[in-house]
Amino acid sequence: LSDGPLKGVKAIVTSGPTHEAIDPVRFIANRSSGKQGHAIASALAAMGAEVTLVSGPVSLADPAGMTVVRVESALQMLNAVRQRLPADLVVCAAAVADWTVANRASEKRKKKAGDPPPTIQLAPNPDILMTVSKAEAPLRPRLVVGFAAETEKLMEHAADKLARKGCDWIVANDVSEGSGTFGGDANTVHIIDGTGTESWPAMSKDDVARNLAERITKALGKA
Ligand code: PMT
Repeated sequence: LSDGPLKGVKAIVTSGPTHEAIDPVRFIANRSSGKQGHAIASALAAMGAEVTLVSGPVSLADPAGMTVVRVESALQMLNAVRQRLPADLVVCAAAVADWTVANRASEKRKKKAGDPPPTIQLAPNPDILMTVSKAEAPLRPRLVVGFAAETEKLMEHAADKLARKGCDWIVANDVSEGSGTFGGDANTVHIIDGTGTESWPAMSKDDVARNLAERITKALGKA
């Protein structure tokens, strides 16, 4: 562990997509690469925090200097986060599937000539960010940071998520086609908290992570 201002701070970061199985060989996923969440976990660890990174399936190597828990589904991600509470800080950067497959098949779905295509039934997944934000003391972390990934009405939807999910900050980013946010190396973010909005210029995901870690350090009174 590095000796930095966040020494003694226990942090949990979620990152990457989740995979929701349709059958043993197929799944529903999304375009998250884990780059932003992993960069945040690394920036927090570099400042001395004791970090657990809970990651969905990504092709990135496990970052050094932290505990990495690899999961597949939203339910597994929720359980991994829950097991590690209490924590001082939780950052939810993962792109968690809103829905899981209700009629998951235990064997591979077979295509038979003349049969209609199968129907996939969806059921809501638990909301990890909301669960952590609304946890009772002493499980409620001092600071809970969520993200909002939107393709339209970015600030409106992000402000709505801050209010509805009960977190302390929302980091809003545009993931519309052509933005390059999913999988890219750069990001343009807006931080919304109870007092207002701070818009940062486009920068690398590593710089977003470092600036966010500094803002977190100040908010926790550790600067
Ligand atoms: O991984 P990259 O390729 O680097 O891309 C980065 C990113 C775009 C994935 C990242 O910056 C980002 O925006 N992450 C959140 C993506 C997302 O799912 O946003 P959302 O608006 O659908 O969800 C809002 C918040 O609730 C998020 O903090 C999310 O982690 C959380 N959530 C959502 C659903 C759910 N069931 N549980 C949750 O915890």
